[in-house]
Amino acid sequence: MNVLLLGSGGRESAISWKIAQSSILDTLYIAPGNAGTKAWGKNVTLNPLDFDAVKKFVLENRIDMVIVGPEEPLVLGISDFFKSDSALKNVALIGPSKHGAQLEGSKSFAKEFMMRHKIPTARYGSFTVETLREGIDFMSSLKPPYVLKADGLAAGKGVIILDDLNEAKETFTRILLDETFGEAGKTVVIEQFLKGIELSVFVVTDGISFKLLPEAKDYKRIGEQDQGENTGGMGAVSPVTFADAGFMDKVLNQVVIPTVKGIHKESIDYKGFIFFGLINVKGDPFVIEYNCRMGDPETEVVIPRIKSDLLDLLEGISTQTLSERDVQFSDLSAATVMMVSGGYPRAYEKGKTIYGLNAVTDSLVFHAGTCSDGPQVKTDGGRVLAVTSFGRNIEQALQRSYESLEKISFEKAYYRKDIGQDLI
Ligand code: AMP
Ligand code: GLY
Repeated sequence: MNVLLLGSGGRESAISWKIAQSSILDTLYIAPGNAGTKAWGKNVTLNPLDFDAVKKFVLENRIDMVIVGPEEPLVLGISDFFKSDSALKNVALIGPSKHGAQLEGSKSFAKEFMMRHKIPTARYGSFTVETLREGIDFMSSLKPPYVLKADGLAAGKGVIILDDLNEAKETFTRILLDETFGEAGKTVVIEQFLKGIELSVFVVTDGISFKLLPEAKDYKRIGEQDQGENTGGMGAVSPVTFADAGFMDKVLNQVVIPTVKGIHKESIDYKGFIFFGLINVKGDPFVIEYNCRMGDPETEVVIPRIKSDLLDLLEGISTQTLSERDVQFSDLSAATVMMVSGGYPRAYEKGKTIYGLNAVTDSLVFHAGTCSDGPQVKTDGGRVLAVTSFGRNIEQALQRSYESLEKISFEKAYYRKDIGQDLI
């Protein structure tokens, strides 16, 4: 099978590492990839949002399957583009239709979906400039803190949590009147604040059945003890200790099964990953968000814990035979720690030479924001490397990652030293 993977981050590095091990793979291409993905396949200079260019490449290189890593091509309708093109419609595409991707692309769509299928989530209201007044009244009826969400994709910056009611009202008004989030903020969701501990749950689905993948916990804040600004994610661990059998049973019955059934019932074309951003409120799961893709850096711990052939599983998705496929997981724990550029998530410099990559022997180093410069590897993004290790438990996995991180260096490198500590 010839496979084209779209994307260039740590998530795509982990997916390409895994796909490269498949017994049914012929050639793996990654577009555009990074300095690390070159070890597992061929990098291709191609913009995943340029669907015509993707089409040309797919046809010229006899691609059998396209795996979409990030959400943007999905929200823009790459799956529909493939289905409506006579030359492409038989190429398998892993990722939901534009309709299905709305679960991530529109917070109000996701909320309404959850209401229809009685999936536990925070109480909410959805407002536009025309209903600004009602929004302010709704906010006043809630207890602080106040959660405001831009409806559309906002590169992880669309959620604002404020303690002060007046400040929340002002911010809400500004988003709607000044269009601070552009198109994404034309609708704003106001939500009840849920207090609890978050985790990420993943499934693959062919639209009918599903397979649960290992769960993970992500560490979003830049600073230790979860202080400071939000990032794309600074590290992750899997499994999650509090996600015991009783809790996961609730997740399955109250969240996952109703979601997959809902997708089927509403005839939403969905062949891909569903990422459930959950919060555990006193032992009960609530959905904070859906994503239509895998998480990053969660993928860097989830994928390594899958023992079976990932490509076989994905083939099961595309042929709607997922229920016949077998998926096995490792009993080992996995941890990943992100090494980022100094300054991230604000402004940072690129082009720093990375040293010591070859000295790492006990961890998997998944490149995120890197590029090649002759024989050298240079930094090319905020999140630069995800260093993943296995262990008997999370503690041991983390220790291995931290030992490996000490061998790697680049100017102004930073990483959190407390990933997973809250679970140990
Ligand atoms: P989202 O982009 O929807 O995942 O939101 C980003 C982050 O905001 C989440 O990871 C949570 O930490 C926080 N958040 C979102 N919604 C709520 C809520 N209703 N209650 C508490 N925290 C929330
Ligand atoms: N790590 C969170 C995300 O991928 O959205």
